[in-house]
Amino acid sequence: MRVVVAGHPLITHKLTVLRDERTPQPTFRLLIEELMTLLAYEATREVRVEPVEITTPVTRTTGVRLSEPLPLIVPILRAGLGMLEGMVKLVPTAEVGFLGMARNEETLQPTTYAERLPESLAGRQCFVLDPMLATGGSLAAAIKFLFDRGADDVTAICVLGTPEGVEAIREAAGDRKVTLVLGALDEGLNDRAYIVPGLGDAGDRLYGTA
Ligand code: URA
Repeated sequence: MRVVVAGHPLITHKLTVLRDERTPQPTFRLLIEELMTLLAYEATREVRVEPVEITTPVTRTTGVRLSEPLPLIVPILRAGLGMLEGMVKLVPTAEVGFLGMARNEETLQPTTYAERLPESLAGRQCFVLDPMLATGGSLAAAIKFLFDRGADDVTAICVLGTPEGVEAIREAAGDRKVTLVLGALDEGLNDRAYIVPGLGDAGDRLYGTA
């Protein structure tokens, strides 16, 4: 598995405002979107393209276009939705699927409670969006779900991650092609499984507590 921790000062600057508990909800939403666009640039470094011939006003030349099947963006409900616009802004022709993951309170295992994805993901590059890589349980389950559907290349994009979360994804990835892109790698988890220093509950800060 390839892990990329973005080291750009603009990302760190935006993350600092995002982490601040005084940052109001509209600013928080906007920053998640902006951060996502910056992370998407890094995450799509190996997006599949094919050559295409075009004519400029001056001459014929060769460029590239995204290969078919087009990339699939999969925000994990609910907090991943806050990242969707930022990603679509950079890759407007990508398709979008949805996965809802929640912890089963009896088994404590992550389960899929909602799914809207193509029946087969054969040959697809998938980009999974989940802002907080904490224990990694639900993201690992989401990645396995996509491989079980036939995906052969999965990139997960998270605003913040922890060493524990990275290890959980590494284990889930095995020898399959997984790339993990993080805005920052934080210290770890507190006893309530919140990322430290983190930014609190991303879903609540995006959408309130309803
Ligand atoms: N999910 C969040 O929203 N925040 C955390 O710190 C951990 C998981």
